[in-house]
Amino acid sequence: MGASLKRAAHDILIGNDLGGYTVPTKGLYPYQWNWDSVFVALGFATFDLDRAWRELETLFEGQWTDGMVPHILFRKNDPGYFPGPSVWQTSHEPFPTSGHSQPPVAAIAVRDMFEKAPTDENAERAKGLFPKLMAFHRWWATYRDPSGEGSVAIIHPWESGRDNLPDWDEPLSLVDVSRIDAYERKDTTHVDASMRPLKQDYDRYMAILQSGRAVGWDPHKVVENSPFLVADPAITMILLRANRDLLALAERLGFQRERVEIQGWIARLERGVASLWNETVQAYTTKNLRSGVFGAGVSSAAFLAPFAGISDPKVLDPMRNHFDRIAGKVTYMVPSYDPDYEGFEHMRYWRGPVWAVVNYMIARGLREQGDTLRAERVRQDTANLVAKSGFAEYFSPIDGTGAGGRSFSWTAAVWLAWVSPTHAVEAA
Ligand code: DGY
Repeated sequence: MGASLKRAAHDILIGNDLGGYTVPTKGLYPYQWNWDSVFVALGFATFDLDRAWRELETLFEGQWTDGMVPHILFRKNDPGYFPGPSVWQTSHEPFPTSGHSQPPVAAIAVRDMFEKAPTDENAERAKGLFPKLMAFHRWWATYRDPSGEGSVAIIHPWESGRDNLPDWDEPLSLVDVSRIDAYERKDTTHVDASMRPLKQDYDRYMAILQSGRAVGWDPHKVVENSPFLVADPAITMILLRANRDLLALAERLGFQRERVEIQGWIARLERGVASLWNETVQAYTTKNLRSGVFGAGVSSAAFLAPFAGISDPKVLDPMRNHFDRIAGKVTYMVPSYDPDYEGFEHMRYWRGPVWAVVNYMIARGLREQGDTLRAERVRQDTANLVAKSGFAEYFSPIDGTGAGGRSFSWTAAVWLAWVSPTHAVEAA
């Protein structure tokens, strides 16, 4: 079974490769997506390291002059996707992009790929990306944590990558949709509507997009003007982790001057993440920076604390309790939202389903902290999901049904990089 899944995973990456960049899946997502590409690079790195570097290099071709790496790179127009470049109206050259970012996982992959084979050639590839990573992380510090408090905010649910998380319901309910342009969704022509966000969510996604477009995507004004500004523990913890990896890269690659700046970002995030501790829920949750309201419950982001290098028992003990409680309720860990929450939906995108890339980060953090039992539960469940339902975009935590897009690049990539039985001993 392992060998044929491995071959199938290779075939998916190669089949979704449009020439130096990879689409998440044909049809539903026909462009280059930011964090998808990074996980794809980790998959390519298991059999073609040169191609893996190329994926990251093409991703950074979309970087804006202010340092932002957008969430979508529109290299060739595809009318099968909405909202496309004519809706975003950004001015990046030589190809258009979307107007905000996505979870900053790139530095994590660059460190992994360099350390996998620290040859002169790979050092050169990593050195070529290093200043771009610095600019990207500086952009997050400047424009998504403008008060300098160390909890990183997003201006659009799409920026989190977790589009319809129940925690966005309260902030989205405050978004005025009375002036949105008429639009036609395309996602539900590719995938069953019961697995996708609702129309009421899309209306709000459009209103927020229009607020950024109205200020010409000026990075300061976007934040001032956005009707949605929510601190996200997943982005905060991923950035904290990515900064630690960037610091390690700076040390290995000889970027001495940058070290102090990165250390400053790390200290700030270590302090700031505490402001996302939700006493009621006993977990890190989102916090609406406009209303002060915390997220409603435990999302999979709460289990990223070890990945971020957080080792405080006051955080980890309740986190393990949540893990064990939830593990007793679902067949497959880790659901994107707490199954005890009334709004949990096991097949609807980020309101319950399991995502292999999130499992990868959670399990990696658990393993790094020596929690091999829970780490192995997450890896084994992910392996069982793929064995049962193939390389789907996401999966039901209840019955393992595959959902969303099929032949999905990042699911195939993390299979190769982590889930596959050949990695079991090392990963456990
Ligand atoms: C989509 O189109 O559903 C994407 O998640 C937006 O990034």
